[in-house]
Amino acid sequence: MNDSDPRRLSVSLVDVSEGHEAEFRRLATAFEATLIAKNFGRAETIRDESLPLRFYAVRHWSNADSAALCHADPDVQAITSKIYQIARVTHVVNGVRKVDPLRLLIDDRRARVEADRRTGFDRRMKDVGSPTGKERRSGRDRRLGPRRLRDRPGEIDLISAARRAREFADAAYSKFKVGAALECVDGTIITGCNIENATYGLTLCAERVAMFKALSEGHRAFTRIAIVADTDAPTPPCGACRQILWEFGGNLEIQLANLTQEKGKHQLKELLPLPFDARLL
Ligand code: THU
Repeated sequence: MNDSDPRRLSVSLVDVSEGHEAEFRRLATAFEATLIAKNFGRAETIRDESLPLRFYAVRHWSNADSAALCHADPDVQAITSKIYQIARVTHVVNGVRKVDPLRLLIDDRRARVEADRRTGFDRRMKDVGSPTGKERRSGRDRRLGPRRLRDRPGEIDLISAARRAREFADAAYSKFKVGAALECVDGTIITGCNIENATYGLTLCAERVAMFKALSEGHRAFTRIAIVADTDAPTPPCGACRQILWEFGGNLEIQLANLTQEKGKHQLKELLPLPFDARLL
């Protein structure tokens, strides 16, 4: 595909939960048929040769607009939300992501730098001389200041986004600031922070703020959420948030971190083993 070619490609990794393969295949076939029937493009689902429950969902869009129409289509959304209940979907290539200059700055440029250890609080206090021989760093590594991380297509540093969101937390009563960053299937990141108020009880957690913001902007399918607090022990989502994340995000991957370290990774299903949801109504 060259620059003037309107066709676009998206690829997602789909890890299907055990026992749900037949259901996934039915949903994937329905998804493929809907794309063709509605002229959005075509899709194919390819099985990984070594991991039987892993599939690659490849979507060939006629153009960027057809991808946007497809994501907003209620029939497509009905199918994808069912897929999200039985599989973990990780978006790897998004050929239709719009280039928003602000988002590029926040998510792509800022997220891909890490502090140079020599400039942080833990920098060496005593001068032990310059390293020699193999220890001596050269080129890019010798520079002081932020170091760029390797660019990984499709992989966005969700934890950094949650750390930045946490700075906006309004935790006047508990002083416990939390940040969250929710990744949507199209690669968009929606952040949230906890907002407290004088009645205490109307407090909203960072996770629910992120989810409600995302839903209110038309996002309906999600891959991961990162949650950050300034504590040594990880801060998992509270019960109310687990319910909301499950109902709208399905079996999301949950990344927990504090200000400096990643503290754990879970699937929401592990944190909410016997969920109540619309299927039981
Ligand atoms: N909080 C969150 O925002 N997310 C969590 O996962 C745990 C708790 C907030 C709610 C309240 O503002 C403060 O943290 C203390 O509970």
